[in-house]
Amino acid sequence: MAQKNNDEQFKNVISHAKEYGFVFQSSEIYDGLSAVYDYGQLGAELKNNIKTYWWKAMVQMHENIVGIDSAIFMHPKVWKASGHVDGFNDPMIDNKDSKKRYRADQLLENKIDELYSELNNFSSENKAKFEEFQQEILGLSDEGQAAWIPSFKDEDGILDNAKYPFVDEASWRFVKKGLALEVEMNLALKSENLGQLKDLIVDYKVICPISKTSNWTDVRQFNLMFSTQFGAMAEGSDEVYLRPETAQGIFVNFLNVQKSGRMKIPFGIAQIGKAFRNEVIARQFIMRMREFEQMEMQFFVRPGEDKKWFEYWKEARLKWHMALGTNPEKYRYHDHVKLAHYANAATDIEFEFPFGFKEVEGIHSRTDFDLTQHQEFSGKKMQYFDNDLNEEGKPYGNYVPYVIETSIGLDRMFLLTMINAFEEQDLSTDDKQDSRTLLRLHPALAPYKVAVFPLTKKDGLPEKAREIMDALKFDFNCIYEEKDAIGKRYRRQDAVGTPFCITIDHQSLEDNTVTIRHRDSMEQERVAIADLADIVGKAVSWKTLLA
Ligand code: GAP
Repeated sequence: MAQKNNDEQFKNVISHAKEYGFVFQSSEIYDGLSAVYDYGQLGAELKNNIKTYWWKAMVQMHENIVGIDSAIFMHPKVWKASGHVDGFNDPMIDNKDSKKRYRADQLLENKIDELYSELNNFSSENKAKFEEFQQEILGLSDEGQAAWIPSFKDEDGILDNAKYPFVDEASWRFVKKGLALEVEMNLALKSENLGQLKDLIVDYKVICPISKTSNWTDVRQFNLMFSTQFGAMAEGSDEVYLRPETAQGIFVNFLNVQKSGRMKIPFGIAQIGKAFRNEVIARQFIMRMREFEQMEMQFFVRPGEDKKWFEYWKEARLKWHMALGTNPEKYRYHDHVKLAHYANAATDIEFEFPFGFKEVEGIHSRTDFDLTQHQEFSGKKMQYFDNDLNEEGKPYGNYVPYVIETSIGLDRMFLLTMINAFEEQDLSTDDKQDSRTLLRLHPALAPYKVAVFPLTKKDGLPEKAREIMDALKFDFNCIYEEKDAIGKRYRRQDAVGTPFCITIDHQSLEDNTVTIRHRDSMEQERVAIADLADIVGKAVSWKTLLA
């Protein structure tokens, strides 16, 4: 039932996004282009506000972080050096009956979730004990984890009941199978053992959700980069890629920025921009797109200080999310078991979407991998001279800095924001059925800050309303509406998240006061026109999020 409600809620958010001009399918009149979306008039505003929140928090609030805007096209050697040409792959498998293609690890993850769903039958105490045990197992070395697999796969189990009381639970045999599969899948992914992934899909009887059969092809790697041709390049190197991450534009400009900005380590370079990935499985609306936007920051540190800064950014980034007032239970960290080719530690910040906890942002400790690779492939030194003194009183000298990356998907953040804000309220009383749809957006993110309504279209009220609008529009994005009854106008602004509606009535002409209606409480108060800018300004100020 909960699942159905979640599905329904997600569908409602998608149709709301379209109905009110937030997100449209790309090329809709031609039946759309799969996993590509356009932002409409209100979506563009909300997206810009999320960008501003990130840019202010990361760049303007940090004296040692600067922002750039690098090109989407980069020299093809960049992607050789970064490892994307050889290693940016997804393990894919096809079902021969439905002809549908899946990511092998996602099929297995769904199976693990299905087996773990039996945990709901555990007592809450035993569930917590199992989760502790699970973390213990996943924290072991590869050999240590592998050693446990036979006991998890053994139907009768050999775990000591006194130490692990949850083994008496009726659902334990499913849960331990889930744990066995989780361990086996992680190990297969880590060693890139595609044969083993296929064996797991077969052994655990994973079936295609469409054909319901287990008639699978072998697992193969698919590169996710889009390529195109560049006319004027030298012979043999005319294939260029659309960047799959914005990060590389930062790495190749590391010395340009460091030198021209006289940056001293530790320092960061940030940017917001488009990235492109030929996702084979693109789904869940703007969650996984082929063209999307990233907000990334690379923080350059002394070798050996990477762990400290990794922890710092992990905490700082979650704080950024939490400042929006989201229920803390909706967020969690997820440490990576399978690390990307460039990382020595990685954590996802996950949000509980209606379809489960999913990654919104990654924090990666990328070591000196990227700069060293670019140094090797370009033949240009990517080193920094650190004249601070170490513990022995000598300068740290020349080194290739280590890097901590924070990388958040703008479109995912947009989706999270819409889902989190969307509320359908029943306002019925004994006498009257009533409801409203509300976007409870943080005022700083709301597309419109103020809606200005003359109560009627006559008696000089529109002129007075225009006067107010003209005074406010320099500081706030405002909308003017005089059509429909006032109640209807309020509801429309609730649905797009406008925090304040200002109504101009006959009294306004006499005493220069108006009513201001607050979106969330629906309360109205009479205030002086002269105070409006201050009231609105305080509520929508970036200070409410950044201070
Ligand atoms: N530079 C590191 C990097 O690109 P990633 O985990 O592949 O790391 C970072 O991507 C973030 O970009 C993700 O957390 C996600 O929010 C977003 N992202 C990745 N692929 C996406 C896609 N196909 N559609 C929308 N957002 C995506």
